[in-house]
Order: sequence, then C-alpha cells, then structure tokens
Amino acid sequence: MYMTNYFNVNNPATGELIQKVKINTEDEINLSLKNGHESFKEWSKINAHERSRLIQKWSKKVNENKEELAEIMTKENGKPLSESLGEIDYSLAYLDWYAEEAKRIYGRTIPANTESKRIVVTKEPIGLVAAITPWNFPAAMMARKAAPALAAGCTFIVKPASETPLTGMKFIDLAHEAGIPKDAIQYVNGRGSVVGDLFTDSDYVRKITFTGSTPVGKNLIKNSADTIKHVTMELGGHAPLIIAEDADLDYAAKQTVGTKFRNAGQTCVCANRILVHENIIDEFTDKFVAEVKKLKIGNGLEDGIDVGPIINKKGYDKIVDQINNAKKNGAEVMVGDKYDADKENGYFFIHPTVLKNVNTDMTIMHEETFGPVAPITSFKTIEKAVELANSTPYGLAAYFFTNDYRTGNYLHDHLQFGIVGWNDGGPSAAHAPFGGMKESGLGREGGIEGIEPYLETKYMSIGGF
Ligand code: SIN
Repeated sequence: MYMTNYFNVNNPATGELIQKVKINTEDEINLSLKNGHESFKEWSKINAHERSRLIQKWSKKVNENKEELAEIMTKENGKPLSESLGEIDYSLAYLDWYAEEAKRIYGRTIPANTESKRIVVTKEPIGLVAAITPWNFPAAMMARKAAPALAAGCTFIVKPASETPLTGMKFIDLAHEAGIPKDAIQYVNGRGSVVGDLFTDSDYVRKITFTGSTPVGKNLIKNSADTIKHVTMELGGHAPLIIAEDADLDYAAKQTVGTKFRNAGQTCVCANRILVHENIIDEFTDKFVAEVKKLKIGNGLEDGIDVGPIINKKGYDKIVDQINNAKKNGAEVMVGDKYDADKENGYFFIHPTVLKNVNTDMTIMHEETFGPVAPITSFKTIEKAVELANSTPYGLAAYFFTNDYRTGNYLHDHLQFGIVGWNDGGPSAAHAPFGGMKESGLGREGGIEGIEPYLETKYMSIGGF
C-alpha cells in the first residue's frame, strides 16, 4: 500500500483506487506536534462557552456535509451507505453532547479541618492529545475522542487509519471551516508504528487515545510509560450473546442479526459467540438463519445492501481460517461459507455465515473474528453460560436475551464486560460510557465519563496552620 511518499486508498468493494494520500515526514509530524502544543496555550484559555459554540458550529458543518461524508466513508470502508449515514449521526451525537459538556466542567470545595482554611478543587485540560483511530468507524471514533478533548480545552492531533483516512481528513477540514483554529485540531498520515512512536516519544503529547487491536494498545501503553502519558485504550472484544430459555426468539433473532452483521461484523462490540439454551437452540437457529438469509451482500453504494466487503486480504484470510478451523473440528454450516474474492483486483466479500455445533476447541471461540460469521453453541444452565462468556481475556461487550428479571439481574451482576445489552443488540450511544474491562481497554469514552480523561485535577488549599 505504501509507495515512496504516498499511499493508496482503495475501495474495498471494487479494489479501485480512490485517492493517493501523502505520507507526512517525521519532521512534518514533529512540527505538527509542536504546533499543537503551542496552540494549547490559546485554546485552553478560550472561554468554555465559546469552545462549546465552536464545537456546535463544527456539528452544523458536519450535518450540512452529511451525504458527502457518508459517501466518502462507504467508498473507503465498504459499509452500506445507510450505515455510513448512521455513523455520521452517531458522530454528530458526540459533537453535540461534548459541546454541552464543555460548559459542565465543575470543581468543588472541600470542608477543611481548620476554621482558617479553604480547599478548592478545579479541573484543567491536560494538554495536547494524540489519537490513533480505526478504519471500522472512521468518523465516530474520531468524534468521540476529538469532541471531549476540545471541549475540555485540550488540543488534538490524530492519525486516521491508512485504510480510511479520507473521512477523518474531511471531518477535520470541517472543524477548521467552523472556526476551530487549525493547530487546535490536526491530522497527520503515515505508517501506524512510525506515527505511534513519534506520538509516544514526544514530550509535547500529554495523552494518547487509541481505538484498535489489543497488541497495538499494549505497545502504546508501554511506550507511553517513559513520559507518563495519560492513556485511553479501546481495544479488542470477543462478545458473548446469551439466549436464555425464556427469551422472545423472534425478537432475539432480529437483534442478533443487527449486532452481528453491522459493518460486516467488523466491530469490536459485535457478538462473536452465540450461546443458546439447549432446549431452544434448534428453534432459535432456524429463526436466526431465516433472518440471515434475507441479508443482501454487495457494494455499499448500491441500493438495499446490508453487508459490504471485508476491509482487506489480511482480515479476509483470518476469517476464512476461522471458518475452516471450525469446520475441520466439527462445526456445521447452516448458511454462508461462500466467498466472492479477487486477490488481483483487491476485493474480498464473505457471505454472512452461521455455524452450529461449535465448541471451545475452535479458534473462533477464542479469537476476535471481525467478520460476518456467527458461531452458535449451547449451554445447560445460566451459570454455565456465564462461565463460558467470561472465559476470555476480553471484556468489552456482552448481550443477553431474557424476560425473567432474576436471570437478567444475575447476568448483569456476573458478566465481566464494560457494556451489557439486555434485550438490546445496539447499546452504543454518545451519552453512555463506552469501554472495556480486562484486555479490552482502559478508560471510557462517551457520557459524562468521557470528558474526565482529558482533565487534570488540581486542588488549592487557602490559609495557613
Ligand atoms: C467499535 O466497534 O469499534 C465501536 C462500535 C460502537 O461504537 O458502537
């Protein structure tokens, strides 16, 4: 993909070249970091109400350019146009939420232990924030980092994913058009590892925020240690989805299709293991497969497409290996296991696939798939379902379907995941704290929690002994 000074951005549905993007040199990136640091002095002093107004203006610009942004996204990412439009709305929700939160950065006073003293706690922006954002949600993941950073008074620099930089670049151009100073929010392009090292090595950067794989996240954490940077990490997932014996199976089948096949299964939160009570597994599977068969696969720019391509050959090969490994170990293909790939032209489609009789010997039950494959296995008791669900180093999202409040409360209390959907296949929302436990990450994005990681706490004690 990388040539001397440029890299190609290709349409994953056709393999066609969309645009060549300039790779920034190390000097250019270091200069941007310096400018971001310098700009912090002014941006952090701008009144919170004015920062709020500027973020609102940015939101308005994004809204006005929604169709264009969505089309760019579908071309470079492959997701259906309806999903791209949905992602722009999701991004707008982050801009709007944090435009409001800018005005709600409160401190507090603490009763002191002597008459003469006062203790006052205030919050300050931490400084320049460097972000690395993923290709699966090129707008929303940037919005949910940039909006709280700017709202807090931090300056922001991002390296968008090399597969999908165009959406993010346009998004940031719109921030400048809205009046946000050009060094307060910037992008740079280049190889992930090179830019990541420049970000973590830089004394100007006070925080690293990353959405992507767990191994890359671990490296960024290690490399941030020398300068004790703040870190927020949104890493991999391996979500269980539990269908209890009493669940409404028609509803659960539809919701499961929604969470599993959104963005062709290329999301960190999508259901990766479907655990169904043994007494209803055949009935659920029939209903689920019937829904899956309705999905239309193809180029996301065409009408009525539900599932687009896999982003690249590496992702495609991993998914195919998982399907083959499951089949070799006894899984039964209920639908799918069909491919439309052209290595020369560079497009890779995998038809939505449902596998039954999967077991824990199969890689699909241990590794994140990031693809349109739904493996189904059974459980006897809800305690066993929890044991199976928690038997992973990941802890991002989990789902369950039941109308019994005791089962629901038990599952809520015992699932070790940061996001839990109860009869809900789509729990993500700008106003809720998105993030994972265990090796799925550190910190939360969204909601009132999402601005805290961009703030330092300072207290002042007034008066003497
Ligand atoms: C992700 O899967 O990377 C994010 C999905 C979301 O915000 O819903």
